[in-house]
Amino acid sequence: NPSITMPPQVAWASGALSGAPLIQKTTHLGDLNNVFADDDAWRCCDPTLAVYRVDMFDTPSGEGELYTGVTHLNPGRVGNEFFMTRGHFHARREQGEIYFGLRGEGLLLLQDAQGQTRLEPVRPGSVHHIAGFTAHRLINIGSDMLSALAVWPSVAGHDYTALSGGFALRVTADTLKLMAKEVQNG
Ligand code: 6PG
Ligand code: NI
Repeated sequence: NPSITMPPQVAWASGALSGAPLIQKTTHLGDLNNVFADDDAWRCCDPTLAVYRVDMFDTPSGEGELYTGVTHLNPGRVGNEFFMTRGHFHARREQGEIYFGLRGEGLLLLQDAQGQTRLEPVRPGSVHHIAGFTAHRLINIGSDMLSALAVWPSVAGHDYTALSGGFALRVTADTLKLMAKEVQNG
């Protein structure tokens, strides 16, 4: 007889993971020192406020293994800057990753090794190929929760220090206005 096992599940509309043990990590505003441009605004915000939570299945690690996780990023701003993840290069720089937009309205900020940046709109159904050697950060530009599914090599790791001075691009409401103009002008 074939052996049948029920796989765990992701609810596409909410990004809720179920059916297998999870690891959850919440990042609060107080953890994001030096991440937002406006330090005074950051100081004024409640440090215990949750900015984002990553849920991932507790699956094996090692060469060739893949992790699956969902980032839930709250709407909000620090000064003019939208809530965003800390952002990182992978510690093993050559390792890529795939993001899938599930809900909400966001941007994926990508920055290559030369410091060149670009943005991809994240929305339900969007598929984002993050090549190796590319730093990545999610930004919530909407008024609801942004949730994105990610699959990445367990050996990738995170390097948060390489960009601790900040990404080369910051996203504020003004950035969105400029982007809208660019789209209009083609
Ligand atoms: C990863 C993924 C993703 C990411 C979260 C939180 O490599 O693990 O890119 O799960 O970690 O979106 O972002 P930060 O790790 O930058 O805080
Ligand atoms: Ni990553």
